[in-house]
Amino acid sequence: MSDIILMLCIEHKNMNRVLEALDHQFSAIDRREPIAIETVISGLEYCRTYPDRCHHPKENLIFRRLCLRDPQLCDELGDLQDDHAILGATVRTVADLAVESARGLPGSAAGLAEVGRHFIALYRRHMTLEEAVFFPAALRALTPEDWDELDFRVFDGVDPLFSDRVEQRFQALIADILAG
Ligand SMILES: [Fe+2]
Ligand SMILES: [Fe+2]
Repeated sequence: MSDIILMLCIEHKNMNRVLEALDHQFSAIDRREPIAIETVISGLEYCRTYPDRCHHPKENLIFRRLCLRDPQLCDELGDLQDDHAILGATVRTVADLAVESARGLPGSAAGLAEVGRHFIALYRRHMTLEEAVFFPAALRALTPEDWDELDFRVFDGVDPLFSDRVEQRFQALIADILAG
């Protein structure tokens, strides 16, 4: 497996852990239990930043090359780049609702749980499609020269949550994730 695909799969695993932590909080809202709103806010902050800087642009590069090599498959896959834009817009909406909920606006928690769960479902479906269809297709269709030519370095960056040095703003979130 190409190193870059391996890295993208690891990032999916990490993203799933963040989505799981968010899901726990949204379930607590449904049960009318108190929630850790800071976990929600910082989880969404992570979803809103790192993937758009370091994960999705790499996939977009691979996708565009795959479209040259196998246009028919790309038609069947739909536009993954559009999916990335939709995920970005949706997470911003959820993040706004989380801020409203933190302010205690009436009804905001229920709206947050509903839209938040929609975001999680979209994200999981997107990653499943990538792992089941997109990544294997790229591994089959791209040549060694393709992989050499694609330059991912400009999109490299330290993961602020899943790394040896967790950024201060994500300390509580990582503790939450590790506690399961
Ligand atoms: Fe993606
Ligand atoms: Fe992905």
